[in-house]
Amino acid sequence: MKILIASPISPRAIEELRASHEVVEAFGKPEAELRRLIAGCEALVFRSGVQITSAVMEGSSDLKLVVRAGSGLDNLDLAYVEERSLTLVRVPGPGARAVAEMAFALMLGLSRQLRRADGLLRQGRWAKHELHGRLLEGKTLGVYGAGNIGAQVGRMGAVWGMRVLACVAQPSPERAAGFHGDGIELESAERVLSEADFLSIHVPLNESTVHLIGSPELDRVKPDAFLVNLARGGVVDENALYDALTSGRLAGAGLDVHEREGEGEISRLAELPNVLLTPHIGATTVDTQDVIGEKVVEIIGAAGRD
Ligand code: MLT
Repeated sequence: MKILIASPISPRAIEELRASHEVVEAFGKPEAELRRLIAGCEALVFRSGVQITSAVMEGSSDLKLVVRAGSGLDNLDLAYVEERSLTLVRVPGPGARAVAEMAFALMLGLSRQLRRADGLLRQGRWAKHELHGRLLEGKTLGVYGAGNIGAQVGRMGAVWGMRVLACVAQPSPERAAGFHGDGIELESAERVLSEADFLSIHVPLNESTVHLIGSPELDRVKPDAFLVNLARGGVVDENALYDALTSGRLAGAGLDVHEREGEGEISRLAELPNVLLTPHIGATTVDTQDVIGEKVVEIIGAAGRD
């Protein structure tokens, strides 16, 4: 089978695929180049950071299988996938733990002022008595969107001794009972926003979630709360977030995902001291990517046998 790999995945997986398939690697390539390189490919593998448009997929009349080596589908033309009856397979499970751990990295980084502490120490400043942190234990963790990843964040918060409030669209009674058993209270979005000391955003980006967290929502959040976003950049209105952070309506924010992502992009939020920014690395642990890579190899192998 000829496969186009449009984003870096585990090197081990690429090596395994190469052993029995023709593999074309095309990382960081523009649409026109992807459209050219996909010619003759039956399978396409991608992560976030690349737009898989209809124009790209049209480049191969042999394309049958689209593998999302991760969770989000916001960078894929789903309507085209359906229209052409392509098989779409996601690998959403393995990334959840890594993203959840990263949510805690950002929450801890904000609550213990790690960026400031590190910066001062590098200048020779021993600011031990200026850097007053806050515990996570005993605080309210608001999980906005308790899907696969959000629920994992909530469970970890409960284990850390946090009071966990979460909102999710239309939970089944079984799912609601499962949350309760895990120490997660299902609540309205309004209560999650207004009671959280740490607010963690976990909703996919689609037409209904663009700027879901904007000025009116941020106005409900406590002024001493921290917000972390590991979902998608467009879910949080970054201009509204900037205003909230600079007017004292929010204590700090940690963003792993951004409205504009990619080499050379510098968010206006980078001007602010109470912000931690990372380049969409929530699911990027070696362990996680190895597991995702193994699944990709399995999926391609199974498709080859069909
Ligand atoms: C995902 O949706 O799985 C994450 O954004 C990780 C990624 O693909 O980079």
